[in-house]
Amino acid sequence: MDFSFTEEQLMIQDVARRIAQEKIAPSAEHFDRLGEFPVENVRILGENGLMGVEVPVEYGGAGMDSIAYVLAMIEIAAGDAAHSTIMSVNNSLFCVGILKNGTEEQKQKYVRAVAEGKAIGAFALTEPQSGSDASGMRCRAVKQADGSFVINGKKSWITSGPVARYIVLFAMTEPEKGSRGISAFMIDTDKPGFHRGKTEPKLGIRASATCEIEFTDYVAQPGDILGAEGEGFKTAMSVLDAGRIGIASQAVGIARAAYEATLEYVKERKAFGKPIGAFQMTQAKIADMKCRLDAATLLALRAAWVKGQGKPFTTEASVAKLTASEAAMWITHQAVQIHAGMGYSKELPLERYFRDAKITEIYEGTSEIQRLVIARNETGLR
Ligand code: CAA
Repeated sequence: MDFSFTEEQLMIQDVARRIAQEKIAPSAEHFDRLGEFPVENVRILGENGLMGVEVPVEYGGAGMDSIAYVLAMIEIAAGDAAHSTIMSVNNSLFCVGILKNGTEEQKQKYVRAVAEGKAIGAFALTEPQSGSDASGMRCRAVKQADGSFVINGKKSWITSGPVARYIVLFAMTEPEKGSRGISAFMIDTDKPGFHRGKTEPKLGIRASATCEIEFTDYVAQPGDILGAEGEGFKTAMSVLDAGRIGIASQAVGIARAAYEATLEYVKERKAFGKPIGAFQMTQAKIADMKCRLDAATLLALRAAWVKGQGKPFTTEASVAKLTASEAAMWITHQAVQIHAGMGYSKELPLERYFRDAKITEIYEGTSEIQRLVIARNETGLR
């Protein structure tokens, strides 16, 4: 086993770290406070290959591997989680499914623009009444005599929905078939029949824009279907497998930022005549934070490595996402506690890390869904 990284992987890590430290971290408080989408920073991420890390060069990406993606996501998330949310949706939820299931024309048309950061992509699976139970969707795409589909329905909690030019949409084409009656479509948000609802006011990742979207008699042409008809649920699930490695990396980045700030603080802050880091109760917290952070990091990298080997990685992705998101929540909680009043204050980013960490336990499959996926795969029972 070799724990070292290649030159290419270190290079993209370095690029991401530089952008995160010079551009993203200094502006994170501003975008978080205003809940504003960071247009200029997103453009910089795109120009530097960070919106399509694993996308082949011929489709506008950086042509790197899954480990490079994990390293880059960790750096951007350590600068600001919301920026890494925008990055992860473009990279994994949007590009992965099209690269795997799309036609050459779809790859050229949709992947290139999004991987270069010239357009924002989104992924529309969740509905107001179906989140974890994804196959319980009601959005309908009715096939017409000419082969086109007329789409009607609502999707909610769409990350980057307010700014997305293109969306991968999942809709029921044959409701009586359940999950086997779901198909995926490429949506152009400039076309008639597509509407955006209000932007969600959120606890954290406030610079990433989220909204409800609605389709009223939106017409999708036969060439807009992504993959085979009826195969949409499998596409969604396999895209989420890859996405969960991204969210694990995001959680690691948030946790690392909180841990590093805490490590500095416990050496500087004095109480009862010595640095608070010299007290055993603080030392125990530091040790536990370090163990959880390292475990989460290694599990995210393991999932990326298995994916890179071309082997099934559903379990590894869920193990990484579950462990890293719970580590991020716990570590940011301890970081606020150790910083005490300063941790609770908006003068430091600790409270933002704490708010941002929470979403990693919710989106792209809650912790409960990750446990269900892992246990089903381990036992073969359901
Ligand atoms: N890869 C490929 N196919 C898969 C798969 C995977 N990982 N998991 C399941 N499938 C296939 C199954 O093999 C099955 O195929 P057959 O019909 O041929 O047998 C089919 O899909 C149905 O599988 P299940 O019966 O297991 O499906 P289920 O209804 O029990 O649901 C679930 C399984 C794991 C609970 C799934 O619904 C799930 O993951 N739910 C969570 C959804 C989720 O993560 N939502 C996040 C929204 S997106 C988001 O958050 C984005 C954002 O904003 C950033």
